[in-house]
Amino acid sequence: MSRIYIFDTTLRDGEQTPGVSLNVQEKLEIARQLARLNVDVIEAGFPVASPGDFAATAAIAEQIQGPKIAALARATAKDIETAAKALQQAKYPIIHTFVATSPIHMEYKLRKQPAEVLQMVEDAVKGARGFVDDVEFSAEDATRSDLVFLAEVVQTAVNAGATRINIPDTVGYTTPGEFRNLIHYLKNHVAGIDQVQLSVHCHNDLGMAVANSLAALEAGATQVECTINGLGERAGNASLEELVMALSTRQDYFAFRTGIVTEHISRTSRLVSALTGVPVQPNKAIVGANAFAHESGIHQDGFLKAPSTYEIMTPQSIGLHESRLVLGKHSGRHAFREKLKELGYNLTGTEMEQAFQRFIVLADKKKEVSDRDIDALLQEEIVAIPESLTLDYIHISSGNQTVPTATVRLTQGEIGTAEAACGSGPIDAVYKAIDRASGISAKLESYALQAVTGGKDALGEVTVRIRGNGSTFIGRGTSTDIIEASAKAYVHALNKLVYQRSQNPDDEAPCKEEG
Ligand code: KIV
Ligand code: ZN
Repeated sequence: MSRIYIFDTTLRDGEQTPGVSLNVQEKLEIARQLARLNVDVIEAGFPVASPGDFAATAAIAEQIQGPKIAALARATAKDIETAAKALQQAKYPIIHTFVATSPIHMEYKLRKQPAEVLQMVEDAVKGARGFVDDVEFSAEDATRSDLVFLAEVVQTAVNAGATRINIPDTVGYTTPGEFRNLIHYLKNHVAGIDQVQLSVHCHNDLGMAVANSLAALEAGATQVECTINGLGERAGNASLEELVMALSTRQDYFAFRTGIVTEHISRTSRLVSALTGVPVQPNKAIVGANAFAHESGIHQDGFLKAPSTYEIMTPQSIGLHESRLVLGKHSGRHAFREKLKELGYNLTGTEMEQAFQRFIVLADKKKEVSDRDIDALLQEEIVAIPESLTLDYIHISSGNQTVPTATVRLTQGEIGTAEAACGSGPIDAVYKAIDRASGISAKLESYALQAVTGGKDALGEVTVRIRGNGSTFIGRGTSTDIIEASAKAYVHALNKLVYQRSQNPDDEAPCKEEG
């Protein structure tokens, strides 16, 4: 059975999802989880794009063991040198360089003739090989390129020393049959193509990214680029979980295997959704909340008689399992530590104690603390940034016959400030009071509330996206009280904004409301 290599680009193309912006700690946390998932390559970022992207790529290159680490670079000397610098500490670095090859991109975007593009390909690949042994070349917009020219481009890249050739369907335009033919064509017209990793990278504009990627694998591609939850530019990229579970569930048909530890899929999906603030639609294949739910009587009856009547894969295979250990308010440190081990967390003594204290508070309010609740608690803890602002208390008065009013007290350094405000609803009032108490005004771009588990005592998880200081910040808060969860999420996002300002001392301008 041949091996297919998984190149994960959640942290690069996935981060290009509109509204998504991850800080270094969040990217590191996702990279750690991708390493547990056992992807072959993590594309960590586009280092020349911003100092933050450079820092995140360098931190991942230094700290993440296991997968190879790739960094993106346009076909210019500066991009390639910057990518190489960011990758300096990686054990297995890959420079991923690209140039567009379709007539439309060459004429309107690059304003270059085909011969000039060929020269750029050669210079970029040779330049990158001067820094690292593993170089991937991508022909951007390959599926709208002239096939003969595309083969010439790929031949040039192979001759110049590329070790991986990537064929992107940049605008999600191709179809499975057409893409299969394209891969066959390249395999038959490029000398030496069998000596390199042949990769595909499909976007989902027509909803065919996964189908197109699978067709390419059938035609002889050996690497597939994808993202968790299908995040990415516009309609996103091929989703890792769909590709991997298609290959594993239909091994009888495809006869391919990957190195993915599928039992980590569910946790990875939840982590990425929580940190990016992009929810997973309930009917999303594999990781949607309904993916293993059976609603109609006929289905339930069949499922109860034999799960395989309506389930083609088990929930356990993606890491959804009934826990052996149920935690509640009588659980002690030992049980809590065991649970964390069972869930795959590896905390230091202090982190474990902090998490335990938060667990006790939750267990006091909630009869049964589920695995999802623990994940939600720990995700707040793990990516904690310095808390310049702490929320001391909130008091609200609300009802259908009264003007919602909130009083909030925040501490900044040694100073505590209490402020009150009215709003169109209790959350609006709380956010206005927080703005006043913090002296920071940011624009609330999105607000989402969801219950972590079922039941009236479920933890509410709030995710907000705010804009201030020229950037976007995602904040998360959980509590059994949704007003408190909302306040925590907003303060969390404001703390990220304050942190970013402290990291860029030149940027001392006060935050003005944007937009
Ligand atoms: O979609 C695309 O063409 C890309 C390349 C940079 C590989 O993301
Ligand atoms: Zn892409």
